Amino acid sequence: MKTIKTQVGIIGAGPAGLTLAHWLKKHGIEAVIIEHRSREYIQGRVRAGLLEQNTVDILKELGLADRLVKEGQEHHGVYLNFDGKRVRVPFGQLTGGRNITIYGQQEVVKDLTEAWLEKNGQLLFEAPALELEGIETDTPKIHFEHNGEKGIIECDFIAACDGFHGLGRKSMPKDAYKEYSVTYPFSWLGILAHVAPSSEELIYAYHERGFALHSLRSEKVSRLYIQVENDDHVDNWSDEQIWEELSVRLGTEGWKLNSGPIFEKSITPMRSYFIDNMQHGRLFLAGDAAHIVPPTGGKGLNLAVADVKHLVDGFRDFYEKASMQALDNYSTIALKRIWRAQDFSNFMTTLFHKQYEHGSFHYQLQKAKFDYIQLSEAYAMTIAENYVGLPFESFEALD
Ligand code: PHB
Repeated sequence: MKTIKTQVGIIGAGPAGLTLAHWLKKHGIEAVIIEHRSREYIQGRVRAGLLEQNTVDILKELGLADRLVKEGQEHHGVYLNFDGKRVRVPFGQLTGGRNITIYGQQEVVKDLTEAWLEKNGQLLFEAPALELEGIETDTPKIHFEHNGEKGIIECDFIAACDGFHGLGRKSMPKDAYKEYSVTYPFSWLGILAHVAPSSEELIYAYHERGFALHSLRSEKVSRLYIQVENDDHVDNWSDEQIWEELSVRLGTEGWKLNSGPIFEKSITPMRSYFIDNMQHGRLFLAGDAAHIVPPTGGKGLNLAVADVKHLVDGFRDFYEKASMQALDNYSTIALKRIWRAQDFSNFMTTLFHKQYEHGSFHYQLQKAKFDYIQLSEAYAMTIAENYVGLPFESFEALD
C-alpha cells in the first residue's frame, strides 16, 4: 500500500486540476494530482477552445502561456447570423479592450501537464480515485489505485476536479446540495477539418434548418458545428452532407465556406447542470464536477479556471493566515459567476438554435433579439461583456 502525504489532494488532471496545482505551487502549497485516464487520453480529448480574457491573464500570470501566446489567436469580435444576415459584435470598444483567444482545450491540458511534470510535480495517470474518507474531518484521505496497487493520499483538503461523472460530487451527502438540470432537445455534431478557416472570427448562426457555428483552431484547421437531433449518430452524416449543411446554415451573400478533409467527428449533447453547494467539510468541487453549461458561448473551461481562482484564494487564506473564512465562502462567490454563465449560455443557446417552428411566436422573439443587437449598443455591450467574461472584481463586489 502506497501512502502519499500532501496538503491538497487533487482528483483530475483537466484544466481545473492542473491550473489549481500550478497556482498552489506558486504560493508554496503542495499538491498531488491523480488522474483516472492516461496522459494520451486527456491530451487528445477534443473540447471547445475559447479562452476568456480572465483565463488568458491567469495562465500568463502563472507562466504557462508561452505556446498559447504564440499559437493562440486573439479575437476582437464575433459574427452573429440570423436567417442569412450577419452582424459583428466588436469586443474592444464595447468592453474596454477585453478579448477572447481561440486555443484548443487539449492544448491547454498539454501545456499544463508538461509544465507540471517539468517542475517535478506529482501526477499519477491511470489512477482512479476509489473512495474519499473523512471529508468531515481535518485529515481527509483519497483511496486510489495505480498499477494494480492500492494507495492513499493523506491531505488537508481534497479538490475534486474530476468532471461530471467523477467521485467528488458523488461523495457529497445528497442533502448537502440542490441540483438543477436542463437537457436541451438537440445536440451538436462537431468536426475538425484540414482546411483554412473561412472567417477570421467565429460565426454563430440561426437558420431555418438549425444552428451552426464556425470556429477554428489554426490557419490550417477549422472547427465547425451543426445542430442535430439528440438521437442522431455521426454515421448518419457523410462529409459531403456536413459541408452542404454548414454552407447553407452559415451562408450569407458574398461569403463562401471552404471545405476540406474532416479528421474528427463527434456528437455532444447539450445540457445545463449545476449544484448550489460546491463544498462539504474538507471536500471542494471545481469545474464540470459541479456544473455543466451548453457550449454555446464556450464558458466551460473558463468557469473551471474561475472556480480555481476562488479556491486558491481560500487555500492561501488558510495556509498564510490560518483562516477558513475564504474557503467557507467558496461556493457563494463561485456560484455568482456560475449563475451568470448559466444565464448567458442559455441565452446564446436559445437565441441561435431552432427549437420552435420557423415563423412561430418563439422564432419571432429570437429574431427580435437579433434585431435589437443591431439597434442598441447597450444590448450588444451586454453580449460582448458576457462573451469575453466579466472581471473577477465585478462579482466580488456583490453581496
Ligand atoms: C470551439 O472552438 O470549439 C468553440 C468555440 C465557441 C463555442 C463553442 C465551441 O461557443
